[in-house]
Amino acid sequence: MPELRIEATLNGRKIARKAQPHLRLLDFLREDMHLTGTKDGCGAGECGACSVFVDGVLMKSCMMPVGKAQGAQIETVEGLAHKGELSLLQKAFHKTGASQCGYCIPGMVMAATSALRVNPFADREEIKERLGGNICRCTGYQKIFDAVELARDVQNGRLPATALLEDEPEDGRYIGANVRRLDAPSKVSGALKYAGDMTIPGMLHMQVLRSPHPHALIESIDTSEAEAMAGVEGVITCDDVPGEDNFGVFVHDQPVMARGKVRYVGEAVAAVAAEDLVTARLALAKIKVVYKGLIAVFDPEQAMQPGAPVLHDDAPDNVTKHIPIRKGDVEAGFARSDLVVEQDYDTQAIEHAYLEPEAGLGYVDHDGVVTIISPSQNITHHRHMLAKIIAKPINKVRFIMSPVGGGFGGKEDMIYQGMLALMAMKTHRPVRLVFTREESIAVTAKRHPSRTTLRMGLTSDGRIQAISLKMICDGGAYGLSTEGVMRKAAILGAGPYDIPNLQVDTYGVYTNNTPSGAFRSFGALQTQFATESTLDIAAEKLGLDPFEIRRINAMRDGAQTHTKQQLKSVSYLRVLEAAERASKWEKGAPVYRGGTRQDFANEGDGVRAPCSLGARFRTDGKLEAAE
Ligand code: FES
Ligand code: FES
Repeated sequence: MPELRIEATLNGRKIARKAQPHLRLLDFLREDMHLTGTKDGCGAGECGACSVFVDGVLMKSCMMPVGKAQGAQIETVEGLAHKGELSLLQKAFHKTGASQCGYCIPGMVMAATSALRVNPFADREEIKERLGGNICRCTGYQKIFDAVELARDVQNGRLPATALLEDEPEDGRYIGANVRRLDAPSKVSGALKYAGDMTIPGMLHMQVLRSPHPHALIESIDTSEAEAMAGVEGVITCDDVPGEDNFGVFVHDQPVMARGKVRYVGEAVAAVAAEDLVTARLALAKIKVVYKGLIAVFDPEQAMQPGAPVLHDDAPDNVTKHIPIRKGDVEAGFARSDLVVEQDYDTQAIEHAYLEPEAGLGYVDHDGVVTIISPSQNITHHRHMLAKIIAKPINKVRFIMSPVGGGFGGKEDMIYQGMLALMAMKTHRPVRLVFTREESIAVTAKRHPSRTTLRMGLTSDGRIQAISLKMICDGGAYGLSTEGVMRKAAILGAGPYDIPNLQVDTYGVYTNNTPSGAFRSFGALQTQFATESTLDIAAEKLGLDPFEIRRINAMRDGAQTHTKQQLKSVSYLRVLEAAERASKWEKGAPVYRGGTRQDFANEGDGVRAPCSLGARFRTDGKLEAAE
């Protein structure tokens, strides 16, 4: 297809450039104009990270073909700060702390700018409405809305310009004072470079061929046609690994690319590096892989049964890790109990959904040091693992952590950095890989889905006498952080309670699902969800207040945990009291009480009617539809 000639005005300057006709305006701005403040979060019009003004109208540049920008006035986040001075809105974002990872922030600033341009007096509700097309995963929205209101008020003279300045800490004390984030100016202006924004002269673009099968033997891989393509500089498979192709933070079970067998849909099988992205993608289609399908297993309880398909030869029962904890005599504790509650709890896989998709660059420097730039959340481990993979001493391996555009644990496990290193070593060129959103969701680690069976015995005064807890987690095809997650789930699962008799078993199990990995709370959420829910059920059955039942069982200063850690000070009771106060909880057993409840209040001291939607559990375990 012939190239387009784009003539437009970009951030106040006339430009004339040739552009590939398949490009989106987003690609043109980022790749051709190097305006990487405009981010590629989803590529599908959902997140707003790519927001720009086209002829004064807020647009999602990932949804606009570059050809439509012909003759247009385009404004990006870089155009908002004149001569380096941040706009009112950018200063307000800085002041209110409205940026965490920062990946969504340029798009948010653009949407907020649009909101105040359309209505300089927009109230909070209108501001929310106008920012509705932009997603933030980590700042949350309150500080962002606060920032827009602050900018609005300064713009309208309701507040002085000094309202945008940093608060002076009293007596020069910074502890407990509001201080501004040092890196916020680079985030609100779009200047901060994430890995996918970085380029290196001579850089190649990498793409990955992924398995369409959940479980299959690889009989052959033929890369010859891809290698012969013009523009292709390198193709790698497991045959290019010079060292130990068996890595992992806890269990060493993962090859850089599938070796002899694929274990989940989306597993990397081969990778191509080419002069441009299109060539790399076309070359993937030329790689011929012959698979022989194997029976797959997707349910962890089935995977533990004798005769289930085995994923890894050194784990014939498919158990990645079993963590047992034993304390006291559980059966004696149940025998002493007046009430025994037994319940199953399921949790599902959860995608981290950080706004920045995985990305990285790899190169070999003049001293032969293999360098990886990526938003790795576990950089030292990654460095040690990579050194073994590429059979180099540790001083020949360098990891540079790029800004993490949201992680929540999802960037702890090494997923693609090994491929970048192998490709850079093979091609002797810098290489960049940027995941698409689809690729990110399909192949990166999720929160472990779990099934917990919890049995709790209590005396009628609400004291826990015994707990037995068994959790089976779907670890997916590789170990990743599963062992650590199982440990935390086991250690923290029974909560901050003094329990004399305890039996905990957590199991991470291999299946042919996408691997599970680290996710905020690192396993504790799954088991604590079971423990806390059971406490609520027990409180209702015993006619006790849920805060009270927790107070009765709380660990106190000097307590010993179930794994024998001596605690000098325990803040749980203070936290509980603060939660009780803040929730305006009316004391009493958690049964339905009247048409209005103080603890259902919206804000202030008012009350509101309880929600009439949904259903309630009754103490006999039956479901009752709400009116
Ligand atoms: S809306 Fe365009 S990248 Fe998400
Ligand atoms: S600050 Fe909004 S996605 Fe991280």
